[in-house]
Formats: sequence, structure tokens, C-alpha cells
Amino acid sequence: MNAHDTTRRSLLGGAAALGLTSLAFDGTARAATPRPGPRAKRRFDGRSVLITGATSGIGEATAKAFAAEGARVGFCGRRVSSGRRVEQEIRKAGGDATYMQADVREADQVRAFVYRMADRHGGIDIAFNNAGIGSAKLPHELTVEEWDDVQSTNARGVFLALKYEVEHMLKAGHGVIVCTSSSAAEQARPNGSAYTASKRAVQGIVKAAALAYGPQGIRVNAILPGTTDTPFVRPPGIPDADWAAYKKAFGPLNIDGLERMAEPAEIARAVLSLASDDLSYMTGASVAVDGGATAGRKMIRPSGT
Ligand SMILES: NC(=O)c1ccc[n+]([C@@H]2O[C@H](COP(=O)([O-])OP(=O)(O)OC[C@H]3O[C@@H](n4cnc5c(N)ncnc54)[C@H](OP(=O)(O)O)[C@@H]3O)[C@@H](O)[C@H]2O)c1
Repeated sequence: MNAHDTTRRSLLGGAAALGLTSLAFDGTARAATPRPGPRAKRRFDGRSVLITGATSGIGEATAKAFAAEGARVGFCGRRVSSGRRVEQEIRKAGGDATYMQADVREADQVRAFVYRMADRHGGIDIAFNNAGIGSAKLPHELTVEEWDDVQSTNARGVFLALKYEVEHMLKAGHGVIVCTSSSAAEQARPNGSAYTASKRAVQGIVKAAALAYGPQGIRVNAILPGTTDTPFVRPPGIPDADWAAYKKAFGPLNIDGLERMAEPAEIARAVLSLASDDLSYMTGASVAVDGGATAGRKMIRPSGT
């Protein structure tokens, strides 16, 4: 086996652990923090935006995008060092962001996070309930604890955040909530029982909440990202060049339509659109932003199943 084969095997091994057949690297550095645009063009000037799970990936990109458009962003995650980094990057770019450590599995922590940010910003105009973890095991391989952790984070965590956010939005008589589901809610995989169940639960919460709170002027929608280049799919420690090669091969093999992974900023832009007044008549919807993956027939297959 030559060096190239060894690298490829280790890449596929890492990918298989995540339930993917291939991965890639385009060598791009982390996208620069967007700077606030000209004042007249900022869609979210002064709006209070709350985000769960913005210490990396899609949440981080969305926090930066909201801040760049004038929002006051409050966000959480468990990793303090990552939270402080994101907070500093946004502030250095001229934005307004506040990090607070909170674990979405813990009701008291979620309540404290929501209430502190609402106090600080005078309410909550927009919430993005995004925190989530993955899972790639066949049903008989999953421990009960692993199943519970995925549901507690992805489904119960969204319920808890929404529960406390709505208390503030009802008082204000308006609000927009976007919750992160996944294309995996629509396209199951053999090793996706825990994850797909949790992301379908998010869709259920969203539909019920849209009906419950529509009369009070609160919109609630789910976003269903397809495979996105974040730490969620990128094996830790993989060199940039290897990841770029993996990414390049991944798209045509696994994703119909655009044949590539999404960048986190592309999902962030979709979240901002859903939260904006442009979509004032949309509620209870599940919006796929997956490059065409669920419209097509390819499926991201775990190896060996
Ligand atoms: N990347 C994809 O291909 C993809 C596709 C479809 C859907 N999604 C969904 O997109 C969301 C964001 O994922 P990502 O791709 O951006 O991956 P990521 O970079 O791993 O981000 C996950 C975020 O969730 C937070 N989180 C996880 N468990 C938490 C907990 N118990 N309490 C508080 N925060 C928690 C993480 O923060 P800490 O670790 O600091 O707690 C992190 O900020 C997830 O819901 C994921 O299921 C991702």
C-alpha cells in the first residue's frame, strides 16, 4: 500500500466513524468574520437574537452573520474557550455578542441563559435553536445512554429553549424561532436511528409551536441543512489538504444536485432569511437547504452496512 492509499484509508476510516463514505479538504482557512455593513442596509439593527450552539460550525457562522447585520447576539455552548473566541471575533469586527456557558440538556441552565439574555437585550426578537450532536450507530449497537443523550440534546434541548423563549415572545407579542433539524430527518440511514428520530422530533415541535403561537404573532420554522463543512463532519486533526481532497470527492459521490457540501455561511444566510421580515408569511415549515440531496437518490452510506 502506498502513502496515498494509506492516507485515503485513514480518511475513509474517520469518515466511516461518522457514518460517511468520504470526506475532503479545500484548504480554506476559517471564513473571515463578516464586518457590519453600511447602516442603512442592516436588516437586524438592534434586534435581540439568541442562539444555542454557536461555539462552532453553523451556529458560529450564524452568530457572526446576525451581528454583521446589526443584531445584538446572545449565544451559548458548553466550551468556554470557543465561546470566548467567537465573542471576541464578533466584537473585534464591530458587532455585539455575549457568550454564556449553558448545556441545552439542563433545564435550569437553558432557562438562566434565555432569561439573562432577554434581560440584557430587553427581550428576544429572534431565536435560533441549533445545538446538536451526531450519532452513527446501528440500533443494536447504540447504548441506551447514547440514545438518551442524542434525544436530550437534539430534541429536548430544542423544546427547552423554545419553552423559555416563547415566555418572552408572548409578552412582546412577536417573535421568530428557527430550529435546526437536518436533511437526515427526511432521508434516514441504517445507522441514523437516534439522529433521525431526534431531528424528526424537532420538526414535530416546530409544527405544533407554529400552530400554538401563530395567533400571537410568533413564527416557528425548521431548517434542514444537508452535509455542511463543520467540526460535526470533519474528523479532528485531519490536515487541511487531506480534508480538501476528501471534500472534493465527497460531493459527487454522496450529494445529488450541487454535488458538494455546504459551507456554514451558506446555512447561516438561509437562517437569516427565515428570520427576516421577507418570510413574514412562513411558519410551521421544514426548509431543506441541502444542495438537492433529499431531492435525489444518493444516500450518505455508512461503510459496511
Ligand atoms: N454539519 C452538518 O453536516 C449538519 C447537517 C445537518 C444538521 N446539522 C445540525 O446543525 C447543528 C449545528 O451543527 P454543526 O454542524 O455546526 O456542528 P458543530 O460545529 O459540532 O456545532 C454544534 C454546536 O452545538 C453545541 N452543542 C452540542 N451539544 C450541546 C449541549 N449539550 N449544550 C449546548 N450546546 C451544545 C456545540 O457547542 P459545545 O460543544 O461548545 O457545547 C456547538 O456549538 C446541529 O444541530 C446539527 O445536528 C449539521
